[in-house]
Amino acid sequence: MFDLIVKGGTLPDGTVADIGIRGDRIAAIGQIEAEAGQVIDATGDLVSPPFVDPHFHMDATLSYGTPRINASGTLLEGIGLWGELKQVMTFEQVRDRALEYCDWAASLGLLAIRSHVDTCDDSLLGVEALLDVRKQVAPYIDLQLVAFPQDGLYRDPTALANTLRALDMGVDVVGGIPHFERSMEDGRASVTALCEIAAERGLMVDLHCDETDDPLSRHIETLTFETQRLGLQGRVAGSHLTSMHSMDNYYVSKLLPLMAEAQVAAIPNPLINIVLQGRHDTYPKRRGLTRVKEMQALGIAVGWGQDCVLDPWYSLGTGDMLDVAFMGLHVAQMTSPAEMRRCFDMVTNVNASIMGLADYGLRVGAQASLVVLDAGNPIEALRLRPDRLCVVAKGKVIAQRQRNDTVLSLPERPGSVRRRHPAHSGGTAG
Ligand code: FE2
Repeated sequence: MFDLIVKGGTLPDGTVADIGIRGDRIAAIGQIEAEAGQVIDATGDLVSPPFVDPHFHMDATLSYGTPRINASGTLLEGIGLWGELKQVMTFEQVRDRALEYCDWAASLGLLAIRSHVDTCDDSLLGVEALLDVRKQVAPYIDLQLVAFPQDGLYRDPTALANTLRALDMGVDVVGGIPHFERSMEDGRASVTALCEIAAERGLMVDLHCDETDDPLSRHIETLTFETQRLGLQGRVAGSHLTSMHSMDNYYVSKLLPLMAEAQVAAIPNPLINIVLQGRHDTYPKRRGLTRVKEMQALGIAVGWGQDCVLDPWYSLGTGDMLDVAFMGLHVAQMTSPAEMRRCFDMVTNVNASIMGLADYGLRVGAQASLVVLDAGNPIEALRLRPDRLCVVAKGKVIAQRQRNDTVLSLPERPGSVRRRHPAHSGGTAG
């Protein structure tokens, strides 16, 4: 007897299986002939572990246009604009925007999110709001918070003290922004200080690192060195790493094996990188995306992050990690079948491993969280970014929607059979 059975779905590896759930755990995977309190028919649909976003800013999300839009479209104007918004926003506004975003995320099967939260504010209003949100959404979303000194650990006079306070309050991960410090040397020192804080407290590290087109911005080298020196292997991520796009090839050939040795993960954010980078170029304009395939070839964990939805840096966004992977596979030119399947894996399993989610995955004993997609396989899911027909979080069905097939009323086509569903090709023809 199970509480819930998801019947007949196709798993990302192509296996067709039923998934039996008891309480908040997956209790069986295979052909299940047993009673259940609830049965979800997933025949012909893709059943995936939930989407995971390892890089987001939930204190800024859904604030687009407040108090104005980013006219230049640059990272630096975005930071300035966020500074203006911080002066006027309230605890309730931050909390309610974040909770609304979590509703969107839940409906899309995005059930684990690592969000940076700005610690350059003496009131730590954003930290308090997101700690409250973390508690409220815990039944369905695992929200991991990163203490992020947005204005620079040393550039902002109280950032260090406030970042430590935020960690004392229960923020999970140590963040930073070395390329925004006043000098390369301050940036280097901030990486060392932040890694030492993480080592002392037994925490993970995730720095906004080298988010610039400057080929000489090389804080990832310091981050890798400190990871090795302090024994933080497997607990450190560099977010963005866009300068690597422009770095000298010889230098990169030395850097990447060091990152692999130190088990430093990389989190590019393709929607934002392609929008913000290259803004100071004429033509050709650099893409600004880091070297994804080259890192993966060396065994470095690379996940796709979302970064922004409707905020000072990005005027679009939905919360759909399939949009993120879709943009990533285009900009990184990951278009072979194996590379596209890897892109799907990046927004699920790889992101979960970067966040250290031990209970994650479609396996017996794991947390019973999954998403049923109106697609036949991961590549079709990337192509269509289809409806989420059902989302299960920690054993409970939290979202369901009807399959939404278009009905065409068009003239007959003699001698030719029209597909039943023109947008979908996998298994729905005829
Ligand atoms: Fe970010």
